[in-house]
Amino acid sequence: MACLTFKKKKKVLSERLNKRSIEHHIPLFSNELNVAFRKMMEEATGEDMSVLHHLQYFVLRCVISMAYGIHLDCFGSDMTFAREIITNEADIIRLRSPVSNLQDSVPLLRLLPILTNSSFARNCGVKREKYMSVLYDRLTKGIMQDEDDCLNSIVGKLVIEKCHNLLTDQEIHSICLTLISAGLDNTPLNLNYLLGVFSQPQVGLQYQMNALEEILKNSNGNLVLAWEQSNQPEMVNVYVYALILETLRHFTVLPLSLPRMTTKSIICNNIELPANTQLFMNAYAANHDIDRFDQPFKFCPERWLDRNTNTIKQASRTYQHFSFGAGSRMCAGHNLALREIYMFIVRLLLLFEINTPSTLLMNMDPFKNNRNPRATSFEPQPHYIQLKLRKLPGYERLHDIVTGI
Ligand code: HEM
Repeated sequence: MACLTFKKKKKVLSERLNKRSIEHHIPLFSNELNVAFRKMMEEATGEDMSVLHHLQYFVLRCVISMAYGIHLDCFGSDMTFAREIITNEADIIRLRSPVSNLQDSVPLLRLLPILTNSSFARNCGVKREKYMSVLYDRLTKGIMQDEDDCLNSIVGKLVIEKCHNLLTDQEIHSICLTLISAGLDNTPLNLNYLLGVFSQPQVGLQYQMNALEEILKNSNGNLVLAWEQSNQPEMVNVYVYALILETLRHFTVLPLSLPRMTTKSIICNNIELPANTQLFMNAYAANHDIDRFDQPFKFCPERWLDRNTNTIKQASRTYQHFSFGAGSRMCAGHNLALREIYMFIVRLLLLFEINTPSTLLMNMDPFKNNRNPRATSFEPQPHYIQLKLRKLPGYERLHDIVTGI
């Protein structure tokens, strides 16, 4: 029964998050980007600032509008609600860390309640149920009122289809949870890392210049066209794509990927692994394998570029990163994450210069920069960047688009 439910959920998520399905939501992402950039433009005074909360709100708003057709007012009436979701989901990820929760691997320890952190975990669960119900109620209200965004949202369609007995209430609830929680930490952290790279003295500026030169070349210097091109399914700005791939590889936000359990006994290198053995994939090691990547500890977007064809080398199986996992259980949201990051970066570079902060420059070594070595994902130290409006010829037109004039 559990297996059937998993397969149904997996099928639904794969269908709703594949490349083609994501295309339907691009106008929503565009809208969410405008909201994020409007706020960032107000704050871009050239002083030190942290942008992580903007990135978290952007990703949260995208997933909630895509999943439920609801537009959260993260800087107004929904601010406390949005913060509650972001902090609580981060707490839940921390609770699930296999390194922090030895009782998950050593059953005897479960008898010692002091080690199980159970009241905190219960509290997180209660908070989660509360905001998931609020979202669901807002969705059903929207459906009753025939609101298009709610009717066309992923969960909205599932609720309507449920009448045909495709999914149970629990299965829909579980899909909602996955949609909200799965990318909420990983996508903003990767974006924040790349912004930290842009803020590095000299080299950061060079990456921005290389990317911007390509973006303008591909649009014949037309800023509005460059802005619109970032909506296209083909990532024409291959240098930007290479920067993103190198960020995913170099940073490897989930260094041990997600733990998996064998469902049956398997033989690996002449060793038998019984059923129910927990396995970890060392994604960080694979991403820094010297046999695959020249100077693996160097941040080098150029490694992904085939200069002869001006394409990404990634197509070859020998050249790939493992930050989204691998195989049949690979991240189901990778198309969504890539599109969000790509659109964000192209448009950010058109609007802003990213400069070196006077304090809290990001340390590019994810281990040295990690403030919680026991967590599942890297938890980087806070860092600052400086943002200044980039006044390219004709930039006023982009400001009009962002402010909705
Ligand atoms: C940069 C952002 C992201 C990273 C680095 C990331 C990484 C991962 C990793 C490493 C796994 C485990 C893969 C394995 O075991 O082989 C995973 C699984 C998964 N991810 Fe992501 N993820 C990201 C964003 C997202 C987003 C935005 C969503 C959807 C909203 C999502 C949905 C999922 C789902 C549903 C699974 C489970 C797949 C399965 O068990 O079959 N992810 N992700």
